Amino acid sequence: MLPTSLFPRTARVSRKNHLMLGGCDSVELAREFGTPLYVFDEATLRGKCVEYREEFARRYPNSLVVYAAKAFINRALAQLFREEGLGLDVVSGGEFTIARSVDFPMEKVYFHGNNKSKGELELAAEWGVGRVVVDNLFELSLLDGVAKELGVRQDILLRISPGVDPHTHAHITTGIVDSKFGFLMAQAEAAVAQALASTNLNLVGLHFHLGSQLFELDPYVQAIDICFRFAADMKKKHGFRFQEFSPGGGLGIAYNKDASPPAVAELAQVISFAVMSKSKELGLALPRLVVEPGRSIVGQAGVALYTVGATKDIPGVRKYVSVDGGMADNIRPALYGSQYRAVVANKVAGGDLEKVTIAGKLCESGDVLIRDIDLPRLESGDIIAVPCAGAYCLSMASNYNSSLKPPIVMVKNGKARLIRRHQSYEDLMSHDLV
Ligand code: LLP
Repeated sequence: MLPTSLFPRTARVSRKNHLMLGGCDSVELAREFGTPLYVFDEATLRGKCVEYREEFARRYPNSLVVYAAKAFINRALAQLFREEGLGLDVVSGGEFTIARSVDFPMEKVYFHGNNKSKGELELAAEWGVGRVVVDNLFELSLLDGVAKELGVRQDILLRISPGVDPHTHAHITTGIVDSKFGFLMAQAEAAVAQALASTNLNLVGLHFHLGSQLFELDPYVQAIDICFRFAADMKKKHGFRFQEFSPGGGLGIAYNKDASPPAVAELAQVISFAVMSKSKELGLALPRLVVEPGRSIVGQAGVALYTVGATKDIPGVRKYVSVDGGMADNIRPALYGSQYRAVVANKVAGGDLEKVTIAGKLCESGDVLIRDIDLPRLESGDIIAVPCAGAYCLSMASNYNSSLKPPIVMVKNGKARLIRRHQSYEDLMSHDLV
């Protein structure tokens, strides 16, 4: 059966027992565009944008939803987020350039990163990026110099590290003390003082990001308490005006049907309530609220399609079924031990189930997409559909083994449009010089 909660909201099973996405038969998509293929469902993407915008606006009107591009961005998606009125969190000159190429309103762009280069800061200041989220004192001085040289006054937030453990995978925990990101609370006052003293920088507020794939909301409440107390203290000592606050992103999604992450509405409720009550308690004016979801916007909208090739049955041990993609397009299982589910797109329901391990085609043993999954008996040529593939798969994809990165189609109302063409071997060599 189709685990509908993991798939895009338009996912159905057709009379032919095929997986349908956005009104398109995924088996036909695989045939037409080849595999591996990433499919994004436009209705799910836009629906998530609306859900985030409305759930926050209803509870906290002075709010902005900023999509974290690192989860995955390309030009078509940047355009879609622009149309949906979202802002964009970028972390590199590359992400900036994509935003600019679709005329993304620069005042809604937030520039993050723990080691932004001078060149990137120059681009940001020159292009009029909304906020630079300053991570450390080195960057504060560098940006001060850049803004002075360019004759601009740059709006900034300071990223603090509130020392709260959000209980997620160690690689994606950021708000704890032992993290490369942000100012330790003990050092943040020096940053506030230095920022306020600069005539080239306009300190607008504070930011933190606790980590990613979070299932608990209480860490946000704890960190908001720490952040707002700090803001009140800085107001008293330095006359700091806390006009904008961002608790980052991080809301988890379900990668299997037993997982139940909080809903966007719950996140909005908990954060809005904490911000309002802390502001009141500490006598602070209500700041503008900026949230930065990545995974929870794109994750469920994306499905990866692969074709089954070779099979290796090791009696009494395991049956490997190899597909034509793997860790080059989705490194998450190898890197974090992430567990994905799958269905067979050309025979979704019924049939005898068999336990198999879905292996990738990249040259290492760790390239396993899914260990021990019960699927209808597989034959070469079958199409495997992996849901929840919209976030942090393609954005972390590589050309490992000189394999080609997959094309992407966007589906809507029975139509599929290519939003990233196939890479070619010529593309692969286009930067090489002999
Ligand atoms: N804001 C900041 C400052 C961030 O660093 C991140 C993610 C986000 C927002 C968005 O977080 P999200 O809503 O997507 O959880 N590659 C890892 C995830 C790394 C997340 C990095 N920062 C993975 O595949 O799980």
